[in-house]
Amino acid sequence: MGARGCLGPLLLLLLLPWAGGSGVGSESLPGAVAAAGGDRTWLQPSIIGGHEAKRHSRPYMAFLQIGGSACGAALLHRRWALTAAHCLPERSRHKGRLLVGLHNRRDDEEEGTQSFTIRAACPHPGYDPETMENDLLLLQLDGKVTLSRTRRLIPLASREPAPGARCSLAGWGVADPRDGRLSPTLQELDVTVMDTRMCNNSRFWRGKIGPAMICFQGLRRGSAPAKGDSGGPLVCGKRPAVAGVISFSGKNATDPFKPPVATSTVKHKKWIQKILRRGCGSSRPEHTG
Ligand SMILES: *[C@@H]1O[C@H](CO)[C@@H](O)[C@H](O)[C@H]1NC(C)=O
Ligand SMILES: *[C@@H]1O[C@H](CO)[C@@H](O)[C@H](O)[C@H]1NC(C)=O
Repeated sequence: MGARGCLGPLLLLLLLPWAGGSGVGSESLPGAVAAAGGDRTWLQPSIIGGHEAKRHSRPYMAFLQIGGSACGAALLHRRWALTAAHCLPERSRHKGRLLVGLHNRRDDEEEGTQSFTIRAACPHPGYDPETMENDLLLLQLDGKVTLSRTRRLIPLASREPAPGARCSLAGWGVADPRDGRLSPTLQELDVTVMDTRMCNNSRFWRGKIGPAMICFQGLRRGSAPAKGDSGGPLVCGKRPAVAGVISFSGKNATDPFKPPVATSTVKHKKWIQKILRRGCGSSRPEHTG
């Protein structure tokens, strides 16, 4: 995809250019670079205005490293994690690694963490990198997560959150805009769901909001998710459930007129359930549309 296909959104995955030492991220990933806008001057702090999550208070959160990018993910099943399709650079699909039960990434030996490689990757067949519609990806792990205090599943929400609903998100997104490094610890942020029609109007996303997108705003003025946070779940409801997957925001992540956008999992619940039951057969679906 060309840089022009980006609509100017900041895809909230994070490229890891410094990871060259281990070979990860040393190859060029045209799609991902274009997705990041090819311009890292507007890297933002991690979950701007958020705070560190209580250790293991979100035991469904997973950290995903694929090729040269980092994203969040949610554990839906002992063998499956949900993330965003744009987190998956086509050529790096077999280099993915998912960490579950993690709080501090710097602490490799952190008790309660399990690491998996990706056995199969199932992007939504309708994922469109130009419009960002259907930006969902299910990853089948090469083993089964052992459930514990630090590693738990999260259910899918059964109802679309209404405008004004309180939700939250978490991630290890970029911690320091000067060096572009991820946050070592999981950060979290409270958000409210925005009315879709308003979000789609000429003051906000100007018609770029599709029917399965959810716009949201940081509860505190100026708070927002940042690079490295995409793919993480938008969690809503008294009993926490996944209502969306963080997809993109404006180039300036705290621009109030370009609120962050998630892909609805409620509208795609049938597809998700079908994949969890049957897999996607191939990690490379022929069909896109
Ligand atoms: C957003 O606006 C565009 C252009 O008017 C329209 O095609 C699209 O259906 C709208 N999205 C929603 C969710 O209504
Ligand atoms: C991003 O937007 C916010 C809010 O409009 C503004 O205060 C800030 O200066 C902007 N940052 C950049 C880098 O343009």
